Amino acid sequence: MSHSAAAKPLTARACGPLRGRARPPGDKSVSHRAFLLGLLSVGETLVSGLLEGEDVLNTGRACVQLGAKVERVGEGRWRIHGMGLGSLLAPREKLDFGNAGTGSRLMMGVVGGHGITARFDGDASLRKRPMRRILDPLVLMGAEVLEQAEGGRCPILLKGTPEPAPIEYRTPVASAQIKSAVLLAGLNALGRTTIIENEASRDHTEKMLAFFGASVTSEPFGEHGRKIALEGRPELAPRPIVVPVDPSSAAFLIAAALLVKGSDIVVEGVMMNPLRSGFLATLLEMGARIDITDRREEGGEEVADLRVRHSELTGVDAPAARAPAMIDEYLILAVVAAFAKGVTRMNGLQELRVKESDRLAAAAAGLSANGVKATVEGDDLVVEGGAGACPGGGLVETHLDHRLAMSFLVMGLASDRPVTVDDETMIATSFPTFRPLMASLGAEFS
Ligand code: S3P
Repeated sequence: MSHSAAAKPLTARACGPLRGRARPPGDKSVSHRAFLLGLLSVGETLVSGLLEGEDVLNTGRACVQLGAKVERVGEGRWRIHGMGLGSLLAPREKLDFGNAGTGSRLMMGVVGGHGITARFDGDASLRKRPMRRILDPLVLMGAEVLEQAEGGRCPILLKGTPEPAPIEYRTPVASAQIKSAVLLAGLNALGRTTIIENEASRDHTEKMLAFFGASVTSEPFGEHGRKIALEGRPELAPRPIVVPVDPSSAAFLIAAALLVKGSDIVVEGVMMNPLRSGFLATLLEMGARIDITDRREEGGEEVADLRVRHSELTGVDAPAARAPAMIDEYLILAVVAAFAKGVTRMNGLQELRVKESDRLAAAAAGLSANGVKATVEGDDLVVEGGAGACPGGGLVETHLDHRLAMSFLVMGLASDRPVTVDDETMIATSFPTFRPLMASLGAEFS
């Protein structure tokens, strides 16, 4: 489904203390992978806690186009009857991923390793995003790019190979999407596919593959990297998947409670995977009052309840090596930094330029529009905080970027003057319950 709704502006204004408990929706990365592994195994995969956002639902639709039966059996509960590895159908229509970089890129890996041809497309934001990084290794494995828009962008017509070559591939940038696309193509290879990454990226694909019975190993490589090896042609057996709460969505609730005076909330069941926890680590360094309680396991991941209270924060230097573990949280971190005492420097953000929008430029522009001094120095973002206050009063352009919209709405809950985003509709791609959940804690948008 393409996102075609007309733009709807939304304004956030200062509110009273946030109070209560809330459970954000399921993790987007895990939800995409649940559909894909359901498609690739024979039999029934039951998923609970699935994120029912547009991005994930587009992946579900694409799985149906490749032959899976996908059924919603309750709130967040889905049943997938897979076709199995090597048995996918060629889709008759194009696969439309809307806004979803993850869905489209991981599915390119699936198609690249099968003897089928598929056309990949999406909305104006997706059409701007670089796909060569995915196509290059797939071509090495034997896939062919029959058509592509300028610069290796969507729409792309990809012809997969029924016998992908097992390769050893060093990812040029730390990206779980590249790693996952190669692993998913490598599933159908006769032999071992190896990925080397200099900086470890989120590990949901390899964890879920192992859970479904594939032989996959992951070992440290260099100072921050990993080497992942997958034996091809495994028997993938469907397993029930419990999707843990998305730390990238929880980030907005956490930030709001830290910034709105008097707030004291509990965010329940947040996934604590260390490769996703960079934001939490940075907030704690800034002096955030966050208590991590009731650590437990859900769906193969450690989760915890986070008690978050309004805090006086101090600017920090966020190291580049931490970027992969908080890659989706820099926009909301930039907003938090606007309220901290002193300067926050976020280093090594080159990958932010190729997300749903150019998030580096958009963060600086949004902050400036709200009276915050922010500069981009090379690949770093430098924000001067207002020691507990932020002028606000700006109109923020969201460029079809859900996280940009949510980040600046959070700013408006604590800034001196209201903050307006030019479009809230994209929020539905990753966090369709954002407004009711925030309202349940006492946040006002209009
Ligand atoms: C994702 C990986 C990240 C992240 C995206 C989800 C994934 O992208 O930004 O929102 O599920 O694999 P990169 O790994 O390409 O940085």
